[in-house]
Amino acid sequence: MTILIEQPHFGLEVETKTITCVTNELVLDGGFPVPKSESDGAFEAPEINSFGHTFRDYNAESERQKTVEEFYRVNHISQSYDFVKKMREEYGKLDKIEMSIWEYLGKVLLLPRFGELPQWAVVGDTFPLGCAFDESIVHHKYFKNNSDINNPAYNTKNGIYQEECGLENVVMSWGHDDYMYLVAKENGSTLPSAALFVIRYHSFYPLHRAGAYTHLLNEEDKENLKWLQIFNKYDLYSKSKVRVDVEKVKPYYLSLIEKYFPAKLRW
Ligand SMILES: [Fe+2]
Repeated sequence: MTILIEQPHFGLEVETKTITCVTNELVLDGGFPVPKSESDGAFEAPEINSFGHTFRDYNAESERQKTVEEFYRVNHISQSYDFVKKMREEYGKLDKIEMSIWEYLGKVLLLPRFGELPQWAVVGDTFPLGCAFDESIVHHKYFKNNSDINNPAYNTKNGIYQEECGLENVVMSWGHDDYMYLVAKENGSTLPSAALFVIRYHSFYPLHRAGAYTHLLNEEDKENLKWLQIFNKYDLYSKSKVRVDVEKVKPYYLSLIEKYFPAKLRW
């Protein structure tokens, strides 16, 4: 797989790298590698990131794998249709704080001010609720203890949805993805539809890596999915060991923020 990187405007050295390695692991959206499940045939991950640095430490690996598996065990038991409905209602109020998006330092849902949600409700791969859990979801076996799995309304391929109903009508497991989307949307961000889609579904690996749930996509989703696949090359595997000089890149990102977001947002 060849990753081509457009030269950014703030003068950092970025090279074009040819990635030839395919590994047997997945990475959680917190940066932990986990073993690939047998049903994840479509997943390909480079060992070297876009900046040419390896990010794997094989000694620390088995410990981390256990941590991540435990994370997904709790995640898969706890993320249910009713839970997500409650979360969307609570966080959709956007009554926590007013601040600019520059102050948003990652996973704020973990902070006391934002309800101090547990990790399983903030990060990790996301998946739809209200229909059957696809086997491509990492550590799928743990869904056997999810309360939705025995609900006949939720455990069929379409569940409560119509084919091609569009992802905007699908309830996704709760985390920073959907929250960030809600914040952007409700504060009147002028980001185009594809960018909002990328924010909302960037951890939806069963769709963008395994090709599952495509029966729920509408035409706009299919177009936006192409952008998500491009974005994803620069997401998890782009973490570089080179420290970015924040002051140097700040004007560039502030100019983007100013273009697409109001000065203060309700969170
Ligand atoms: Fe993320």
